[in-house]
This record gives sequence, structure tokens and C-alpha cells, in this order.
Amino acid sequence: MTTAQTLLHIDASAQLEARSHTRKLTRSFIERWTCQRPQDCIIRRDLGRSPIPAIDEDWIAAAFTAPEDRTPAMTERLALSDELVDEVAASDIIVMGVPMYNYGVPAALKGWIDQIARIGRTFSFDLKRGDVPIEPILSGKTLAVLSARGEFGFEFGGMRAHMNTLDPALAACAHYFGVAREDIHTIAIEYQEFKDERYESSVARAEAAVLDLVDDLAASSRNVI
Ligand SMILES: Cc1cc2nc3c(=O)[nH]c(=O)nc-3n(C[C@H](O)[C@H](O)[C@H](O)COP(=O)(O)O)c2cc1C
Repeated sequence: MTTAQTLLHIDASAQLEARSHTRKLTRSFIERWTCQRPQDCIIRRDLGRSPIPAIDEDWIAAAFTAPEDRTPAMTERLALSDELVDEVAASDIIVMGVPMYNYGVPAALKGWIDQIARIGRTFSFDLKRGDVPIEPILSGKTLAVLSARGEFGFEFGGMRAHMNTLDPALAACAHYFGVAREDIHTIAIEYQEFKDERYESSVARAEAAVLDLVDDLAASSRNVI
């Protein structure tokens, strides 16, 4: 017997699927998942097509005011953030399509992260904890980062590892999504701008790796009773 799981399907590419590698990878993930586990629930957030507004002074003032002291305007200002946090809290697995833009995450995804990092909802802050005052509130989730890059060599030890601000940014913020570092699975297409045989084999490897990852995660989900 298995319990139903919830997946949060996020896309951050500004491009439509016909041109987007990351959208194709997330769709492939979700299609294989739903074939194996039709009982599961999929929540959809398309950040590339419907960008999240950047946080601003009013948002920060509202977020750092205790809920009981918030004005109706403050509560209203946090409504979208609350909705986004609810989606993360409801999820067991977060499937994220993340193109590399200027060596980091797309602004659309950064906007989402800023709305998710919420005191009292996704983390607590207490100076009594000394030098580590932040403690995550959510836990036990898995993150699949399905990425694409025009260049190559961004992996640990690679020739552009020092320019890769995408993977470190997601790893640093994953605790806000309830994801421990060891539960982040990253698959990346590289060489997209070279359009040579290295690119072709990188696409084929990533497509196969996505299917393998789904099989592995679905197998562990079957063991969750
Ligand atoms: C605005 C923009 C910035 C990009 N910056 C980088 C970069 O810094 N490094 C890199 O390797 N590729 C870069 N690329 C290439 C993309 O990572 C690559 O085209 C990827 O396939 C985009 O994801 P998508 O196909 O899902 O849209 C950039 C592409 C765009 C459109």
C-alpha cells in the first residue's frame, strides 16, 4: 500500500516548451511520474510565464510584523507569498526547471525564493541559538533541479565551477523549501550553445537521467506507508 504524494512542478524558463530544454525535462519527469503514480497530486507554478513580483519595502515590513499585529493591508500584501509557501508545504517532491541565466538562477526563480523565505512560515530566527540563529520549519522534501546551460564545465572541479552561482544558490536556500542538501538531485544539459555532438549526447544523457531519477524516487515513495 502507498500513500499519495504531492509534487510541485515549477518552470522558470522564459521560453515556451518548443524552445526550452528545462521545460521538456520537467514535462518528461511529470509524465513518467504520473504514469507510475496516477494517484498523486501535481501542483503547477509556471514562473517563466507568470513571474512573481519582487519583494519590496511594504512586503518586508509585513513579513517581519507578527501576524497578530498586521494591518489588513499587510495581510493582503503577503497573500501571494502565503499561497506559494502553502504549495511548498503541501509538497513531497519539488521538480524545478532551472535554466542558467548569467551564471545564476533566472530572476523569476529568485523572485519565488524571496517569497518563500518567510520568518514564522519557513524559518525561525532566534539569537539564543548563537551563531546559527536561523532554523528551517519545513523538512523531509526532495528537490529535483532540471537545468540547462549554454556552456559547460560548471560541475565541481570543472573549468567554470567558480562561475556557477546557480547550484550554490539553490543549495543555500533549499532549507527554506524543507530540503536537506543530500535530497537535492541535479541533472543538467550542457553545451547548448555549441550545438555539436557533445550537446547531443548531453541532452540524451540528461533525458535518460530524468527517467532514472523518477524510477528511483517513485520506488522510494512506494516504501512510504
Ligand atoms: C538570458 C540568457 C542568459 C544566459 N546565460 C547563460 C550563462 O550565463 N551561462 C550559460 O552557460 N548559458 C547561458 N545561457 C544559455 C541557457 O542556459 C541555455 O540556452 C538553456 O538551454 C536555457 O534554458 P531553456 O532551454 O530551458 O530555456 C543564457 C541564456 C539566456 C536566454
